[in-house]
Amino acid sequence: MNIQQLLTQRVSQAMIMAGADKNCDALIKQSAKVQFGDYQANGIMATAKKLGMPPRALAEKVLQHLDIEDIADKVEIAGPGFINIFLKNSWIAEQNEVALSSDKLNITLPAKPQTIVVDYSAPNVAKEMHVGHLRSTIIGDASVRVLNFLGHNVIRANHVGDWGTQFGMLIAYLEKMQNEQANDMDLSDLESFYRAAKKHYDEDEVFAEKARNYVVKLQGGDEYCRDMWRKLVDITMTQNIATYKRLNVTLSLEDTMGESIYNSMLPGIVADLKQKKLAVESEGAIVVFLDEYKNKEGEPMGVIIQKRDGGYLYATTDIACAKYRYETLHADRILYYTDSRQHQHLEQVWAIVHKAKYVPESLKLEHHMFGMMLGKDGKPFKTRSGDTVKLNDLLDEATERAATLIKSKNPDLSDAELAQVVDAVAIGAVKYADLSKNRTTDYVFDWDNMLSFEGNTAPYLQYAYTRVLSVFKKSNINEDNLDGHIDLGTEKERALAIRLNQFDETITTVAAEGTPHVLCAYLYDIATLFSSFYEHCPILAAENESLKVSRLKLASLTAKTLKTGLDMLGIKTVDKM
Ligand code: ARG
Repeated sequence: MNIQQLLTQRVSQAMIMAGADKNCDALIKQSAKVQFGDYQANGIMATAKKLGMPPRALAEKVLQHLDIEDIADKVEIAGPGFINIFLKNSWIAEQNEVALSSDKLNITLPAKPQTIVVDYSAPNVAKEMHVGHLRSTIIGDASVRVLNFLGHNVIRANHVGDWGTQFGMLIAYLEKMQNEQANDMDLSDLESFYRAAKKHYDEDEVFAEKARNYVVKLQGGDEYCRDMWRKLVDITMTQNIATYKRLNVTLSLEDTMGESIYNSMLPGIVADLKQKKLAVESEGAIVVFLDEYKNKEGEPMGVIIQKRDGGYLYATTDIACAKYRYETLHADRILYYTDSRQHQHLEQVWAIVHKAKYVPESLKLEHHMFGMMLGKDGKPFKTRSGDTVKLNDLLDEATERAATLIKSKNPDLSDAELAQVVDAVAIGAVKYADLSKNRTTDYVFDWDNMLSFEGNTAPYLQYAYTRVLSVFKKSNINEDNLDGHIDLGTEKERALAIRLNQFDETITTVAAEGTPHVLCAYLYDIATLFSSFYEHCPILAAENESLKVSRLKLASLTAKTLKTGLDMLGIKTVDKM
């Protein structure tokens, strides 16, 4: 049940009957203060202006037509023409009951599921994943989970950097290592491998010549080079898949749709763009000039799609890729999870694919960008010696810290329980710290904050969840056999109950905008509202049996909501910690 949508329908209907046109916007929002009711309609003023009517007069008229008695017991006009809506307790409770008994917590599923391509993670071959890929991986995966929950056809596209001129040097170096050490080759440290290959390339002319030769051969489909390339991709992806698993990220090998798969499309694209007169030759290269992007001199900016030496670029691949996702995958939406520095790149690619009519304007291309991960010093997150932090090292440290923390909090856990809790808390804390911040801004990575049991953190929510469960465990009551009705007698109960009913509108926002922090804030609210309800309203010691059942039902819905929400974020819960 999406209350916001329901109220929007009801109020718009009344606005139309009061003279507004069909597209009027009721602008229904959750009220910021209790005295303004539960929801507010803020759209009266703008509509009144259009109609040339005093806003309060329009509001009065809207109220006359408003059919809302079944939902609200009080509706009032406030200020210059706001409408405050106070929902009925009985109706709120009824919605809670429906949510409890339906399998997806009564979340409105889209009438027509869409095909949505989610482009995320996208690490590069023969390189260790870095913190930028961590953000893309975690935030992208949360979006995937939310969209999947809603029943969309979600295609995970791991746009791995598995193509380009660097492969000549990587193949030449792999060959050198194989020759020198036979089978005993250690590629586990991809970062040093890449660096060593680069060093040889820069310092050894014979090696560099061979490398350049291998690039040409690889692109020409030479079997030996193809095999060596495959080996590099496989080694990297095996490592990445292990990291995804550790991170509880849903990406698997089948989701790999690397740059290489578009390679065969590139000559055709360049020829076609030339033929359409969108691309021209400029200083030996093939360039698309875009009027909407001006350089410092005020001239249209050029996007190079083929270099003078015949090589293609990152942009060329992304043009082919968007075309493929529309034509072959039949995408309705494509979400790109890359950092904000790639924004212009994507906009230029989209401008080109629109001009070339490779994709229609109706296909929604969305850059769900994010800022950088910073250290406590406010500078880009690095090791003490200034190197990029390896993801696995980061997760090792998280595990160590979580182990110390959990052992001190609960020394009675068995080894098996401890391992499970530590994993959930360590990985959960790292992920949640990222997910809970508005992704568009930079965020500061801070161990103490993310592992705290207080505040908007994973451990706080995971702990809150176990606390709700403990009510049932302590009493030996089965959540699924509660016979009775929810009755909202106190403000604490009411506040929790209404917020529980707002899960739907929260998910709607997250699905549309790819903003998991909205879901985090919501879950945090639920946990704190539960906590204050728990403190003020005895559950097991309630005055009578029916009140006890009512409160147990609220507790049960709280647990289910927390669990479902944390699942959507890719964060594990445990039964005790
Ligand atoms: N591999 C790229 C990087 O490491 C990210 C790819 C993002 N996706 C895309 N379609 N360009 O920066």
